[in-house]
Amino acid sequence: MAELNKKLNENMYLCHIDDIEEGASKGFLSDESGSDLFFIVKQEGQLFGWRNACPHVDGAPMAWRKDAYMNSQHTFISCHAHGALFEPNTGLCVQGPCLGKSLKPVPVYVNQAGKVSILLTDIR
Ligand code: FES
Repeated sequence: MAELNKKLNENMYLCHIDDIEEGASKGFLSDESGSDLFFIVKQEGQLFGWRNACPHVDGAPMAWRKDAYMNSQHTFISCHAHGALFEPNTGLCVQGPCLGKSLKPVPVYVNQAGKVSILLTDIR
């Protein structure tokens, strides 16, 4: 049990900060259907992690293809099922059927070398 708890407190390396372009998004930990567990967006040089689960229909995946979580202008996260738009930095829905609801955050860590990681405990 102690070994399991130690493992869950470990960081999981995901990518380098430069692997995600400004205004772009990247999904991680795909299941057998190809749906990501969570995704990261980059806005104004900062990274924000969110669960790939739309608050409109609980648990609904949001991208229309791999890593496609942003709208065409790269200004908002977009759920491609029914067009909801979310602020990249807060996860708040500002347009669409789940207006006022929010995405569930996934804390993202970037070390001095630019390595991006998460804590496994944050995605259980
Ligand atoms: S499931 Fe996301 S907007 Fe409907």
